[in-house]
Amino acid sequence: MKKLSIFISGGGSNFRAIKAAIDQDQIAGEIVLVVASKRDCPGAEYARSIGLPVSIFPEEGISEADLLQQLQDSGTDFIILAGYIKLIPEEIVGAYRQRMLNIHPALLPAFGGKGFYGKKIHQGVLDRGAKITGVTVHFVDEFYDHGPIIAQAPVAVRQGDTADILASRVLEMEHRLYPRVVGAICRGDLVWDGEIPFLDPPLSMENE
Ligand code: GRF
Repeated sequence: MKKLSIFISGGGSNFRAIKAAIDQDQIAGEIVLVVASKRDCPGAEYARSIGLPVSIFPEEGISEADLLQQLQDSGTDFIILAGYIKLIPEEIVGAYRQRMLNIHPALLPAFGGKGFYGKKIHQGVLDRGAKITGVTVHFVDEFYDHGPIIAQAPVAVRQGDTADILASRVLEMEHRLYPRVVGAICRGDLVWDGEIPFLDPPLSMENE
């Protein structure tokens, strides 16, 4: 059973999808800590409502060392970033290298990095006329949207899509992909080919 800490800033729908998959025994893990950048975000409220400990970082002045200590005290094996919008301190990136995952609502390396956040990602896809966008789950390194890619899933762009419509279609795919990737990581289904990670066996997104 792996111990997970989930970092959130907003609605927490990916957090809920992961929690649901744990409850359905699709992930051999347990959530030991939720870290929220905003005390009152809906994801933090939800975490409290189901009895999970919530730390606020960085808003309430706990230091990076304090947060790292909390992660270590909780026995956290993997950090799961799920819409967390603040930069992760380098000390924590270093301590959880290849053990911290992020989800990005586009197919990296396209439409990622500086300036690509929230609706700007989907507007960028539409403005460029891309026909396929999607979801990327990757390990976190010191740069935004840059670490090794673990898994991706495509989402078609349709005529008439707005950034909001596309965002919600991509979010549905996020809720399918992220719990599967977290489940695979908790099972140890990850191999490295040099610096490139692969899930082995590969994920099947069929058989819904
Ligand atoms: C998701 O689109 C995620 O990819 C992005 O932020 C959003 C978070 O949504 N990084 P939620 O809080 O999980 O609902």
